[in-house]
Amino acid sequence: MSGPLEAAGAGDAGEVGEAGRAGRRDFAFRTADFRRVQALIHAHAGIAIADTKEEMVYSRLSRRLRATNLPSFEAYLRHLEAPGNEAEWEHFTNALTTNLTSFFREAHHFPILAAHLRSLARERPLRVWTCAASTGEEPYSIAMALAEAFDTLSPPVRILATDIDTKVLAVAQAGVYEDKRVAELPAAQVRRFFQRGSGAHAGKVRVKPELAALVRFKPLNLLADDWLGLQPFDAIFCRNVMIYFDKPTQYAVLTKLARLLEGDGLFFAGHSESLLFASDLLRLRSHTVYERAPAGAARPTRGAPRAAAAPARMAA
Ligand SMILES: C[S@@+](CC[C@H](N)C(=O)[O-])C[C@H]1O[C@@H](n2cnc3c(N)ncnc32)[C@H](O)[C@@H]1O
Repeated sequence: MSGPLEAAGAGDAGEVGEAGRAGRRDFAFRTADFRRVQALIHAHAGIAIADTKEEMVYSRLSRRLRATNLPSFEAYLRHLEAPGNEAEWEHFTNALTTNLTSFFREAHHFPILAAHLRSLARERPLRVWTCAASTGEEPYSIAMALAEAFDTLSPPVRILATDIDTKVLAVAQAGVYEDKRVAELPAAQVRRFFQRGSGAHAGKVRVKPELAALVRFKPLNLLADDWLGLQPFDAIFCRNVMIYFDKPTQYAVLTKLARLLEGDGLFFAGHSESLLFASDLLRLRSHTVYERAPAGAARPTRGAPRAAAAPARMAA
């Protein structure tokens, strides 16, 4: 899927503030300010915000204006773009990401991953990367699936979970969820992998430390110039993030991701993300599961995008 962000706010329709909906606004927000936000977040994170998302942007960023005590979007954007404002860039980015996720989302991927990793004979721990991990449900689902497949809470697996959004990564690292988030999981699975909270933590579950120990969290911008120190992975989960990028950005990111996939590794995409336009990089293996394309594979000529020259403001 290409084009501007249709799905933006898909999981948080309620975030459009009353003031925005009714046309009453606390802060001046001109079309020029909206365009500037679109350009800045696209250049920084690759996120293409559709022209229809002006209210969503107002709602999400007006909180930053309140927090910084700035009177208008114009003043806020001037503040953001002034030298040395890395911390505000982090808030700005966190405010504009969409983080919808769930445990065992797109469930057919997990048995495929488990069977594939079990078939590999490696002398080192198996390596899995989830590169848009959001609040952690995806990497913990991978950890649970592999603990079950290897029948141990310490399978020979290391999971790297990254995201550009530092706020969701903090949630992921804490590993504490409302118990309704695990309500759909089999009771035995919840008992095996989570501790139920009591007292002040009633109504919550926490990922067991053995499971959490399989996952390492790290901020990483997929658009950053370098992803230092990453070794090739046996599987990469890159699900439901490409939908926020335009095609040239998708191709540029996929080029780097494909290089970090082992020759026999698997690449998992989101259900609405067709990567057939990048068939020189990745070849479809089964529904939304890809493998490295053979050397010299051709790229479709129609609509093949040019690689994006995407500046990265915040280091990974
Ligand atoms: C909709 S969530 C998908 C979560 C999970 N992969 C899933 O499928 O359930 C998209 C995630 O992509 C992250 N994201 C957006 N732009 C990014 C970028 N340039 N680099 C890394 N992560 C990014 C967002 O912060 C968000 O957490």
